[in-house]
Amino acid sequence: MSAPKERRKADTFEPVRHPIGRRGRIIQRGDETSEMLIKKPSSLRQADVTPRQVYWNRRKFLEGLGVAGAAAVSGRALMRLWSPGVAYAGTKLNTVKSSYTLDEKITPANDVTHYNNFYEFGSDKGDPAKNSQKWVTTPWTVSVEGDVKVPRKYSLDEILQLAPLEERIYRHRCVERWSIVVPWIGYSLSTILRLAQPTEKAKYVAFQSFFDHNQMPDAKYTGLEYPYVEGLRLDEAMHPLTLLCVGMYGETLPNQDGAPVRMVVPWKYGYKSIKSIVKIKLVSSEPPTTWNRQASNEYGFYSNVNPSVDHPRWSQATERRLGEIFMHKTLMFNGYADQVASMYAGMDLKKFH
Ligand code: MTE
Repeated sequence: MSAPKERRKADTFEPVRHPIGRRGRIIQRGDETSEMLIKKPSSLRQADVTPRQVYWNRRKFLEGLGVAGAAAVSGRALMRLWSPGVAYAGTKLNTVKSSYTLDEKITPANDVTHYNNFYEFGSDKGDPAKNSQKWVTTPWTVSVEGDVKVPRKYSLDEILQLAPLEERIYRHRCVERWSIVVPWIGYSLSTILRLAQPTEKAKYVAFQSFFDHNQMPDAKYTGLEYPYVEGLRLDEAMHPLTLLCVGMYGETLPNQDGAPVRMVVPWKYGYKSIKSIVKIKLVSSEPPTTWNRQASNEYGFYSNVNPSVDHPRWSQATERRLGEIFMHKTLMFNGYADQVASMYAGMDLKKFH
């Protein structure tokens, strides 16, 4: 999902219409009805698969160790044990049941954590899992600011405690036509927006991801402008389905999936679900968004999943679940039409794609 801009160096990137891979390599593509930028899970290399991080049960761990054992634990592991309240990727989270669930097969965690789009860590699907492991996401703060009465920086600890953490099983549909079903953990974004008390001027919410050249050196080969930014209309942001997400599969988010806090907006194409958020700003006009800035004819501001509005380069009528062979029919608003369609009543969904 990329299209070059003039500002790209001619020697680095190929001309328009070609999906761009790392260091300007063109990713194999087929005709309009075949997969675009999709590697089947079977093509995931073993080397892409890092062992799942264990979480720490402090008491059991200390009991099992004894003093000599404890001394042998690495400094980093001890930090994990001795930092009350600090949640690391791979830390188990307690959740409450949610009514947001699905009677569909959950995608294996290994596929979801090793087939990613997180361009800050590279543009190949295995890059984020490989390249993000040393990235340190603590301490972390999220600033809520702009047209609000109560601007504030929240620590991750505070975010984890603002509301009961719900496990919500959502469909997640990438514009590239792959999809997943994931048990995310979090609560409605509206919780934190209400605390900020948006003013009359606030009409949109602008999100910004963390970015640091030194920790994300592969970003420079991807042709995107950083930091990654996204946006929602205020009513979309306040919709109960819009999830401020801090975990998945019972644990905190792995780095490659947007640790430590990301958005999940299940009725929109996956690129709206911005990862590793550091800023949430209430604004009066439509904010710029990364992929729209990159190729506005291909990626609109709204980006609602819509099987009858094709991407200029491929059909959006069907999708493939990671780990499966056959294509599924894509559902209007990704299956969430009953909950969200009224927000777009009377809108030309092709024009406002
Ligand atoms: N957020 C940031 N900061 N950087 C990105 O490259 N990619 C987006 C979105 N959020 C992206 C991002 C895209 S294109 C998709 S499909 C989803 O993250 C993928 O989420 P996943 O890798 O957890 O499946």
